[in-house]
Amino acid sequence: MAATLRKMKINEANMCAPGGPAADAAAIRARVDAVDWTRVHAELDAQGWAIVPHLLTHLEADAIADLYHQEQGFRSQVIMSRHGFGRGEYKYFSYPLPPLIQALRTAAYPRLVSVANRWHERMGKDVRFPHDLAAFLDRCHRAGQVRPTPLLLEYAPEDYNCLHRDLYGEHVFPIQIAVLLDQPGEDFEGGEFVMTEQRPRMQTRAMVLPLRKGDAAVFAVNSRPVTGVRGDYQVKLSHGVSKLLSGRRHTVGIIFHDAA
Ligand SMILES: [Fe+2]
Repeated sequence: MAATLRKMKINEANMCAPGGPAADAAAIRARVDAVDWTRVHAELDAQGWAIVPHLLTHLEADAIADLYHQEQGFRSQVIMSRHGFGRGEYKYFSYPLPPLIQALRTAAYPRLVSVANRWHERMGKDVRFPHDLAAFLDRCHRAGQVRPTPLLLEYAPEDYNCLHRDLYGEHVFPIQIAVLLDQPGEDFEGGEFVMTEQRPRMQTRAMVLPLRKGDAAVFAVNSRPVTGVRGDYQVKLSHGVSKLLSGRRHTVGIIFHDAA
């Protein structure tokens, strides 16, 4: 999108919601509440991921993507090539999170707790998750996982993100969210969100998530249970992004556990 047009849209978004990019926390909460969580849960159980279409409006997506080039509001920047993570860069938000991100993180967490707890039970893991995000973050913080993990990623042509798992310490909430902030085919080409699933004694399965601008991918962080003939077994998942062919691609990632 042309810079002027984008700027115009941002101003419009800010006018609608004083206090930050479309920072209407009540609207975000209402939108999260309106999601068909029964379908999301069923798809998470069946394949380890689900798409929530239009979780953010295009104005909100533009407003968040534009935060990337602000100096303030971030605790660190990672240049992926320096760590062997791929090519491209991302920044971790600092606390307090932008109101829209905070609202999304707080509202989505309780909608996913039942799946997280059921997965843990089925995988024979003892940890259970409390029903609100503040209580879970308190647990992370007491264990020294105090740094915020929500992040903003920016990809330019040739950039990509190697398959990985977003683990930042002992405490791991098993589901996370990523929202695509640009339109495939218009703002960028390539750069597909890819997941792999490693099954015991079987070949690895690859999955491409068909995201559009403003859509959220809700997906397994690390592992999930699968029903087999002799009971449940665990599969391991990873996610990444294929090479961007042209344009710019931004994503906001919402991870529920904080980092050590
Ligand atoms: Fe990630």
